[in-house]
Amino acid sequence: MQSFWVYFLAFVSGFLECHCNNATSNSEVRLLLVSFDGFRADYLAQYAFPNLQKMIADGAHVKHVTNVFVTKTFPNHYSIVTGRYAESHGIVANHMYDAATKKNFSIFADQDQFWWNEATPIWITNQQQGHKSGGAMWPGTDVSIHNTMPSYYLKYDHNVSFSKRVDHIIQWFSNSTEPINFGALYWEEPDATGHHYGPDSKELGNMLKEVDDRIGYLIDQLQKTGLWNTVNVIITSDHGMAQCSAKKVIELDNCIGRGNYTRVTYSPVTAILPHANISNVYELLLNCDSHMKVYLKEDIPERFHYKHNERIQPILLVADEGWTIVQNGSITQLGDHGYDNALPSMHPLLVAHGPAFRKAYKTNTINSIDVYPLMCHILGLKEESNNGTFANVRCLLISESCVSLPDVIGIVIGSLMVLVTLSCLIILMKKRGSPQRAFARLQLQDDDDDDDPLIAG
Ligand SMILES: *[C@@H]1O[C@H](CO)[C@@H](O)[C@H](O)[C@H]1NC(C)=O
Ligand SMILES: *[C@@H]1O[C@H](CO)[C@@H](O)[C@H](O)[C@H]1NC(C)=O
Ligand SMILES: [Zn+2]
Repeated sequence: MQSFWVYFLAFVSGFLECHCNNATSNSEVRLLLVSFDGFRADYLAQYAFPNLQKMIADGAHVKHVTNVFVTKTFPNHYSIVTGRYAESHGIVANHMYDAATKKNFSIFADQDQFWWNEATPIWITNQQQGHKSGGAMWPGTDVSIHNTMPSYYLKYDHNVSFSKRVDHIIQWFSNSTEPINFGALYWEEPDATGHHYGPDSKELGNMLKEVDDRIGYLIDQLQKTGLWNTVNVIITSDHGMAQCSAKKVIELDNCIGRGNYTRVTYSPVTAILPHANISNVYELLLNCDSHMKVYLKEDIPERFHYKHNERIQPILLVADEGWTIVQNGSITQLGDHGYDNALPSMHPLLVAHGPAFRKAYKTNTINSIDVYPLMCHILGLKEESNNGTFANVRCLLISESCVSLPDVIGIVIGSLMVLVTLSCLIILMKKRGSPQRAFARLQLQDDDDDDDPLIAG
């Protein structure tokens, strides 16, 4: 009963709070989006992260983020900032080929806006709606998209240290005349170490310590400049990492001659552009290896949302978790990603801290495409059309009235208890005061006191 009233009051007050807060202005709201490439969700439970844990204790934590297929760096970074599946934002892989224009895209040749223009990233939308954005090496932030650059940005260079990138971001937020309200910051680790040594390695454990130190540096700098309590910070990632093995290799040369096709992307999702007859190439690949799925473009499962784009090639090979597709030979790395986005090993985490977010709030999962409507809501931006769902992420926000599962259970149990108690009371009262009962008693008396002179008489 008591818990019912606690929940009931919390619910009502949450409701009122939500409706009052809607009136506040968004002009002071700031948001920093950070990605540590290849930060697998369950690293958090396996290793110590003193700095990140501090943020979690004082913020919101999503344990598993369901990212988009293919679980590669460029498609997923663009999904986070556009809220769209890869097929709908156009960055369908780290390597792409467009048959109509004969153009090629790779992570080293990403500057042609042709590839990016199928969607509009949030840093541009933010500028179009009157604000300033900054990009510190987040994929795409050094590309002119729809002929627009971020107000401040760094040309991609992996030699620039994380602390340098942080220092730039902080300068942009602190700029006295034209400060940014949105920044996007990227770091290459723990992805690089995860690839090289594998996610189960000692080296990866050491790198995760460094990643947490870098998070510590970011927090320190934000605190020193008085930004820590006013800037909303989201730390997330593009994908996880699977352990690969020299014993799990699929050799295409065993099944098909190289003259039949061009590989447009490599492993673990290999895009095949057949040179002549698509179905001949398909037949040769179909039964090549039981640890690899072979799809004609039109048969790619709906759940991947990876079909409706010219840049998706006629045949797609998808390796099982931990398997590597090569033409021949052995593997060159012990960790990889790109696999089915339903695999937990492919999922990153998300941690959010700042005035917009709930404190000590945990939830099991959201989709990476939901981060876009979340960010637009925080910044007060009108969204571009996207595939995300704000309802999935609104509970991260302190301004939203939100009833969690334990709350619902509390309310249901509380309500049941009230109902049961009321019913019992009613039944009791009925029994006590019912005329039938009184009559029955009279009858009883009747039987017992046969000789009662009053009745007999
Ligand atoms: C295609 O692959 C088959 C099977 O390996 C091979 O016999 C054929 O020569 C190849 N064709 C071309 C054009 O390379
Ligand atoms: C995703 O969003 C785009 C842009 O609004 C839309 O064209 C597409 O149909 C959406 N995809 C799904 C699966 O709803
Ligand atoms: Zn990678």
